[in-house]
Amino acid sequence: MHTIEICVGSSCFVKGSNELVEMLKKYLEEKKLEDKVQLKGAFCMGQCAKGLGIRVDGKLLENVTLANALDKIEIELNDVL
Ligand code: FES
Repeated sequence: MHTIEICVGSSCFVKGSNELVEMLKKYLEEKKLEDKVQLKGAFCMGQCAKGLGIRVDGKLLENVTLANALDKIEIELNDVL
């Protein structure tokens, strides 16, 4: 089971973390990964100045934007894709 944590802090919310959550829910549904990947909310990860706060299996991803988030997450999930 993989875990994707998405920051729900105010800076990430302004940058669209709620849109990212919706995007990821749809993505996991389409790929039928709901039983292999869980989504969780998390507090600020100190990424506010660099981008959206996302961790996959505890690993902090850097310079994440709404546009590149899926690509960066897919790299981390490659064993179930
Ligand atoms: S509010 Fe999301 S990383 Fe700081």
